[in-house]
Amino acid sequence: MKTRIPLSTPTMNGTEMSFIQEAFDTNWIAPLGPHVDAFEREIADYIGGTHAAALSSGTAAIHLALKAAGVGPGDVVLCQDLTFAASCNPIMYEKAVPVFIDSERQSWNMYPKALEAAFAKYPHTKAVIAVNLYGTPAKLDAIAEICRAHGAVLIEDAAESLGSTLHAKQTGGFGDIGILSFNGNKIITTSGGGMLLCNDESIVKKAKFWATQARDAARHYQHSELGYNYRMSNICAGIGRGQLTTLDLRIAQKTNIYNTYAAAFNKHDQISMNPVPTNCKSNYWLSCIILEDGSPVTPTDILERLEQENIEGRPIWKPMSLQPYYRHCDFITSEPTSVGHDIFARGLCLPSDVKMTGKQQNLVCDIILDMF
Ligand SMILES: Cc1ncc(COP(=O)(O)O)c(C=O)c1O
Repeated sequence: MKTRIPLSTPTMNGTEMSFIQEAFDTNWIAPLGPHVDAFEREIADYIGGTHAAALSSGTAAIHLALKAAGVGPGDVVLCQDLTFAASCNPIMYEKAVPVFIDSERQSWNMYPKALEAAFAKYPHTKAVIAVNLYGTPAKLDAIAEICRAHGAVLIEDAAESLGSTLHAKQTGGFGDIGILSFNGNKIITTSGGGMLLCNDESIVKKAKFWATQARDAARHYQHSELGYNYRMSNICAGIGRGQLTTLDLRIAQKTNIYNTYAAAFNKHDQISMNPVPTNCKSNYWLSCIILEDGSPVTPTDILERLEQENIEGRPIWKPMSLQPYYRHCDFITSEPTSVGHDIFARGLCLPSDVKMTGKQQNLVCDIILDMF
């Protein structure tokens, strides 16, 4: 059996164990603990100008962000169409109404023009969820301005983009509320976890309150609101603290992977890389390609060929407007045909694991190029 070349798996740097050991030595396994407080501070410092709540997942962070935005039954939430289902599932937890917004070609993220069109149709929209897909920042300034003009709360889903910047400002800090994920396939991991970010400390305090079963400040167990068990454990936060020490190295490694693919594919007229606008720096969490319209080779052909060699690729996220579960929802595009549907049809994600050797990556490139 050939050695597996994975898409993106956890990469430990060795320091995580000392944080875990410290948690064991002090019997701070759970709940919460000093690593959680420190991890929140460290992430908040990294992003800059924000407060942070460490949670059990990025999905939990989106859920609490929606609650903080006051989203409830029947409220309209505009969400990027080309994303992972975790971006919008929490809209359904609150029995609100998702409306999906098409992407633009330049970043593959929410198209501000389509967002404007959606506000024209849904002027009472409560919140907007914009995503930085595969690490590439969305046009967050333009999106934030549109949200402000319409009085909607912007939730920035930066689950995939920790360390990416837009005109030198860290993603996660552009929305009224930002969220991160430390899921196992992300650029750094806590095994599973997420973070809610907000420059309003009272919102972060409220998120922590909801995340710990909404316990009122009373001696007995009293609850005036519905609560959740959404906090991060001290062990997971310890792993995160260790991982954070090599975040910048991981970004450099992922950038190198992207540049190597770009050098191999840019000279081929049927293959282009996922675009990264010039005013931003991506963390290049996943490198993707898109094939020319009418290419004789399809993304499925490539994925199947890679699988034969024990190499893991992935389709582009299937847009939410194409998901059976969300088929009843409205979808807004400002183009004659959907940009996101087209990217899904012609694109794919390539192995982007930082443990992949140069030789392995060259093999991936050669296999793909040989197919044309
Ligand atoms: C765009 C996006 N949003 C949200 C999430 C949810 O994060 P988590 O898996 O930590 O719940 C993920 C990753 O899984 C994601 O890729």
